[in-house]
Amino acid sequence: MREENSKRDKSLTMTMLMTPDKSNFSGTNVHGGEILKMLDHVAYACAARYTGLYAVTLSVDMVLFKNPIKVGSLVTFFASVNYTGRTSMEIGIKVISEDVKDRSTKHTNVCYFTMIGMDENGKPHPVPKLELITEDDKRRYNDAIRRKEARVHSRSLTHIE
Ligand SMILES: CC(C)(COP(=O)(O)OP(=O)(O)OC[C@H]1O[C@@H](n2cnc3c(N)ncnc32)[C@H](O)[C@@H]1OP(=O)(O)O)[C@@H](O)C(=O)NCCC(=O)NCCS
Repeated sequence: MREENSKRDKSLTMTMLMTPDKSNFSGTNVHGGEILKMLDHVAYACAARYTGLYAVTLSVDMVLFKNPIKVGSLVTFFASVNYTGRTSMEIGIKVISEDVKDRSTKHTNVCYFTMIGMDENGKPHPVPKLELITEDDKRRYNDAIRRKEARVHSRSLTHIE
């Protein structure tokens, strides 16, 4: 039996060491594509854990690389379910990198994934409604609604249904 809403974990934190195989051509910084792949894994884990369902990525937006991530650093992904529709969810992810030697940290990325909960037959499945308890929950939810509206507008300009 699935957990009650209030007991569900809508947040997930994952930390990874940036090994040399993740570098870009500079050899010193992590490749942007590697970060995108890790972000997708984190979004999947957050969505699947919250819903108890398999989840697929419908869209990714506002991936902002604010600062480069150095090979050798520790990167922590802070993910949260910001919004739920019927079968869709917005997962927001904030990325912080840490120099393992001097412990200094940098806010390196922020992005928003739209994930869809799926049933065993590969069809979209309703997801548990998000409970808005704290002021932060409400702010994130309202911001997610604004991003959803902006997405609809931008898709109308690109002719992708
Ligand atoms: C995700 C997927 C199953 C949705 O299929 P669909 O036929 O559009 O399903 P539905 O019409 O039931 O919509 C499901 C949800 O997606 C949302 N959605 C679908 N297309 C959308 C679009 N173009 N823009 C915004 N939202 C969209 C719907 O609003 C709905 O959300 P809601 O239930 O919260 O209201 C389908 O698009 C898919 O399989 N995509 C590929 C996923 C994938 O492989 N991702 C990995 C990247 S390669």
